[in-house]
Amino acid sequence: MVGVDIVDVSRIEKLETQKLATRILSKQEQEYLNKKSNLTNGKPSEYIYSLAGFWAAKEAFLKAIGVGIDTDNLNQIEILHKASGEPYVKINDKLFKKYSILNGKSIHISISHDANMAISVCFIV
Ligand SMILES: CC(C)(COP(=O)(O)OP(=O)(O)OC[C@H]1O[C@@H](n2cnc3c(N)ncnc32)[C@H](O)[C@@H]1OP(=O)(O)O)[C@@H](O)C(=O)NCCC(=O)NCCS
Repeated sequence: MVGVDIVDVSRIEKLETQKLATRILSKQEQEYLNKKSNLTNGKPSEYIYSLAGFWAAKEAFLKAIGVGIDTDNLNQIEILHKASGEPYVKINDKLFKKYSILNGKSIHISISHDANMAISVCFIV
C-alpha cells in the first residue's frame, strides 16, 4: 500500500501555525518542531516547512491505509524521528485496532521540503 501527499507551504504559513501544531501534533512531535528555527529570511522558516512536512506525512499515511483525512486522530498518528533524523510512524493501540489493515505490516515514511512545497510518501508492506 502506498500514499503520497504534497502541501503548499505558503498555505500553511497563512494559518495560525501554533494553533495548528497543537491540534495536529502530539507533545513529542511539538517538541521536535519547537527546535526548528523561526527565521524567515524572505522564505518560509524551517518551523513552517517542518509543520507542512508533518501534515503531508500524516495525510500520506492515511492515503496508504485507504482512509480519508481523519482530523480527529491526526495527533495520534505520530511522526517521530530517529537519532539520524529519519522519520517513522508510531500508532497507539487504539488506532492500531481501528486501522486493522496494519496488522503484521510495517510502515515506511519519507519527508522532503523545498521551494514552498513539502512532500511525503508512505509505504505499508
Ligand atoms: C537526510 C538529509 C539527506 C535531508 O536532506 P535535505 O535535502 O536537507 O532535506 P529534505 O527537505 O529533503 O528532507 C528533510 C526531511 O528529511 C527527513 N530526514 C532527516 N534525516 C533523515 C535521515 N537520516 N534519513 C531519512 N530521512 C531523514 C526529516 O523528516 C526531514 O524533515 P523534518 O525534519 O521536517 O521532519 C540530510 O539531512 C542528511 O544527509 N542528513 C544526515 C543524515 C545522517 O546520516 N545523520 C546521522 C546523524 S547521527
